[in-house]
Amino acid sequence: EQLMVLHKRQPLVREVLDANDNLRSIGLGTEFDFPSIVVIGDQSAGKSSVLEAISGVQLLRGSGVVTRAPIELRLDGNGDDECVARVEAEGASVAVVPCGELASALNETMRSALWSQQNTAPRNKHHNHQVLGVTDAVIRVRVTAAGVPDLTLVDLPGLARVAVQGQSADVPRLTKDLATKYIRSPNTIILVVVPCNADLATAEALQLAAEVDPDGKRTVGVLTKPDLMDPGTEHTLGDVLDGRVVSLREHGYFVVRNRGQRAIDNNMDLDAALREERAFFYERHQVFARLAREKHPGRFGVASLVRYLTKVLVQRIVAEIPALRGRVEDRILHESAALSALNGKYHSSVWGAVERNLGDAASRKAFLLQLTTDFTMSVRE
Ligand code: GDP
Ligand code: NA
Ligand code: MG
Repeated sequence: EQLMVLHKRQPLVREVLDANDNLRSIGLGTEFDFPSIVVIGDQSAGKSSVLEAISGVQLLRGSGVVTRAPIELRLDGNGDDECVARVEAEGASVAVVPCGELASALNETMRSALWSQQNTAPRNKHHNHQVLGVTDAVIRVRVTAAGVPDLTLVDLPGLARVAVQGQSADVPRLTKDLATKYIRSPNTIILVVVPCNADLATAEALQLAAEVDPDGKRTVGVLTKPDLMDPGTEHTLGDVLDGRVVSLREHGYFVVRNRGQRAIDNNMDLDAALREERAFFYERHQVFARLAREKHPGRFGVASLVRYLTKVLVQRIVAEIPALRGRVEDRILHESAALSALNGKYHSSVWGAVERNLGDAASRKAFLLQLTTDFTMSVRE
C-alpha cells in the first residue's frame, strides 16, 4: 500500500484540483475557496509534527523547536518541481529559501519577532536572553511546488494553562484567543491534537472546538505519541476510537505516531518517519496491530488521516460546486454580452474603414494600430 501525503496529488483529488487549475488559468481560481486546516492543542501535543506529516513540508528541525507565532502555510501548486518557501512577517518578505531550510528560517523569524516585542515591552526583571514568549504576529509562508494542492495549513502556538517563568502572564489568554480566532471561521477544518497519554476528558482544545463547532461537522481528533503510552494501557485506545470517552460525533479520531525529538535531532526525513510509523503500528506492536487491522481499520497512521482529510476536503469542495457554477455562468453571460457589443460596434464600421484606409504602407500601419488600440480599450471597458 502506497504512503501518501497531501502535497502529492492523489487520484481522488486530482480531478478537482485540475478543474481548479483550469479555472485559475481563466482568472477564476481565487473564487474557489479551499478550506484551511488548523491544528490546536496543548504545548508539545504534536501539532507541528502532524501538520508536517500531512503536508510533507518540514517545519521542525533540530532540538527545542517550538511554535511561538501563528504560522499560515499556503501551499501553491503553480510552481516548478523544486519546492520553494517564501516567508513573510508583518507584511514584509523576510526570506526565500528551499523548503528544506524552512524550519531554520521560521525559527529565525520567530526569534526576531519576539526580540523586537520583548525589547519594546517593559524590561524583563530576569534579563532573560532566552526567548520564551508567544506572539500573535502572524508569519505567512507560501510554499510553491508543482502539484501541491491549494491549501492553507495553520500551525499555532500551544494552549498554555499557566505562564512559565520568564513568560508574560497573558500567554494563556493569548494562545486561547489565537486558537479561537482561527477555528471560528466556518471554512476551516479543525484538527484537535491530543497525546495518547493525556486525559482526553479535560483537553482544553476539545472544549474550544466544541464551542465553535458543536455538531462536530469540521472537527477531527488526532491522537499522538501512542509510543509513549504506559505499557499495558494501549487497549484503552479502543474506547477512545469508539467514541466512549469524548465523542466527536461526525469524524472521530485518528492515531498517528510522529518523529520523537531524537529523530528530529537526527534529521530523520518525513518519508522515513512514515515507514517507521507503519512498522510501529502494523508489525511491532501486538495491541496496536490488532486495533489497526481488525477493530479500527483506516484509523491508524498519517496515511489514513490524509486519506480521510482528502475525502472531507473533496466533500466540502463538491458542496461548493453549485455556487461556483453560478459564478462561471454569470461570467460567461457577461463576457458574451461584451463580445456581441464589440461585434455590433465594429461590424458596421470596420469594412468601411478598411476600404478608406488601404492606401500606402504607413497609413495601413497607422490604421491597424488605431484598430488594435480601440479593441483593447473596449475589452478593458
Ligand atoms: P507542538 O508543540 O504541539 O507543535 O508539538 P511538536 O510537534 O513540536 O512536538 C513536540 C515534541 O513531541 C517533539 O519533541 C516531537 O518530537 C515529539 N513528538 C511529537 N509527536 C510524537 C509522537 O508521536 N511520538 C513521540 N515519541 N514523540 C512525538
Ligand atoms: Na513544540
Ligand atoms: Mg508547534
